[in-house]
Amino acid sequence: MPTVAADRLAGKTALVTGAAGAIGTVVVQRLSAAGVNILACGRNKSRLEHLANQTGAVPFVADLTDVEACRSAVADAERRFGRLDLVHLGVSTRGDCRDIAELDLADYRRVVAANVDSVVFSLEAAVPALRRAGGGAITVSSSLAGVTGYGQFPLYSMTKAAVNGLVRATSRRLARSDIYLAALCPSFVDKHLLGDLRSHLVQKKIPLLAPGEVADALVQRLCATPGDEPIWILQPGHPPVPCRYPDVSPLTGGSSGAVPR
Ligand SMILES: NC(=O)c1ccc[n+]([C@@H]2O[C@H](COP(=O)([O-])OP(=O)(O)OC[C@H]3O[C@@H](n4cnc5c(N)ncnc54)[C@H](OP(=O)(O)O)[C@@H]3O)[C@@H](O)[C@H]2O)c1
Repeated sequence: MPTVAADRLAGKTALVTGAAGAIGTVVVQRLSAAGVNILACGRNKSRLEHLANQTGAVPFVADLTDVEACRSAVADAERRFGRLDLVHLGVSTRGDCRDIAELDLADYRRVVAANVDSVVFSLEAAVPALRRAGGGAITVSSSLAGVTGYGQFPLYSMTKAAVNGLVRATSRRLARSDIYLAALCPSFVDKHLLGDLRSHLVQKKIPLLAPGEVADALVQRLCATPGDEPIWILQPGHPPVPCRYPDVSPLTGGSSGAVPR
């Protein structure tokens, strides 16, 4: 973990969604090691309790595709810790759809609910709390699939592109309230849940990121200054880089080299 995190984050309070997931778990471990009070949110009670025993995080069990559950999580964090400074949003599912001509409506709703609704509802609930705290930082787990598209998972790619659009469009306004909002777009991460995809990637010699590398980049973003770049790409063997469209004029005006946010 970058040492800057321990210096800047000690004593702060964080809400982490998708906390029992492969990357969310390491984010909670890193934040806990940096002295952060954490509300660790997810659906899986036993995995959250295990994480709580390891790290001292407080478990919050809920389906975070529900707007009221997101509001309750934020209210619980403020009630327990007195304020909310940091948020990491990691709820996600890749879904089963590989061919748009064979769309399963229930699968589509599940992917949009986990990857988009949960982010929108969590932001709606958390931003007022961060404003009450006088500022803070929010990171969203997006994906390189949302930048380049990934043909194996078109719905997943669509939802991550939606998240990137929301973050780009929202980050500038939030910076005025001293809130930094960023999305991190990693390529493939090595974890057992990659399942059959993992052997395919290994066979094709496609390098994989470790969950710890992704968590470190996320924690680094939680230490960034409001107004910093909103969308970051993370690939194996490279430090995180901002995702820019240098030849596109931003809708907000300004020079064509600027990031459209
Ligand atoms: N793994 C990769 O290759 C990769 C690459 C790029 C980006 N990312 C992004 O990184 C983030 C974390 O990925 P990961 O690999 O750590 O995934 P993961 O292990 O599947 O974790 C996702 C978490 O989201 C939770 N979740 C899903 N639906 C939920 C709901 N309705 N309510 C509450 N929690 C819910 C899951 O809880 P349950 O345990 O209850 O299902 C799980 O703990 C995701 O946003 C993903 O898109 C991953």
